[in-house]
Amino acid sequence: MTVYVVQISDLHLFAKPHQRLLGVDTETSFLQVQKAIAALDPLPDLLLLTGDLAQDGSAAAYARLREHLQALPIDTYWLAGNHDRLHNMNSELRAERVHGEKSFSRENWSFILLNSLVPGKDSGYLTDRTLLWLRQELQRSQAAQNHVLLVLHHPPFSVGSDWLDQSALQQPERLFQVLDEFDHIRLVIFGHIHQELHCRRQGVDYLACPSTCVQFCPKSSRFSLDVIPPALRQIWLEPDGSFKTQVQRVEAALQTPNLALKGY
Ligand SMILES: [Fe+2]
Repeated sequence: MTVYVVQISDLHLFAKPHQRLLGVDTETSFLQVQKAIAALDPLPDLLLLTGDLAQDGSAAAYARLREHLQALPIDTYWLAGNHDRLHNMNSELRAERVHGEKSFSRENWSFILLNSLVPGKDSGYLTDRTLLWLRQELQRSQAAQNHVLLVLHHPPFSVGSDWLDQSALQQPERLFQVLDEFDHIRLVIFGHIHQELHCRRQGVDYLACPSTCVQFCPKSSRFSLDVIPPALRQIWLEPDGSFKTQVQRVEAALQTPNLALKGY
């Protein structure tokens, strides 16, 4: 059976409901994306949230997110990004259908969610402990003859934007060293860059998802906002390890950001 996954990323919610990031009301924008997910027919089997769920890391932002997610009849799994506070996420983002687990399987696919958050830093890093856990999970999924979808927040390589590349995953070769030991990893998905991206490395596909709020211009050396609608990514995982994917823009979620701002 196909496993139908939707990825959304970089929600950047705040403690106060209508606070703005770069001129965009992030919660209103997220709620439009949520509406688009609720209208999908069929509904996805899983929703994956790939970090920066709150801009301010506040418990209040996560508590409201939990309520929004619980309005969807879909199992949701989440990861932290550089703007998040893991402690608050762990206390607020665990409820019925909102799962804190970082490893699970559906059909013959294993899902592994890697924490690349370094408190106080924008860039990401995978600790020895995380990589050891990853290797164990990969061994387990290999023994089960499953295919693997790996999830993290930070891109593990340059995306051709100097300012974003500075906050990418640091020392990604540490990750690749582990991944290259295995041949059942099919897909790696991430967020952080607020834009669509699809590339390949050693036979593995790497996909990035746009944000549910503000978008960044691809291939821009400096901070640069794009005026295109927020989006969700649909991924259909097949039993033979192949997949199909598409990014669905949500026109109703588009708000014009403050283009005069030079960073966030
Ligand atoms: Fe980020």
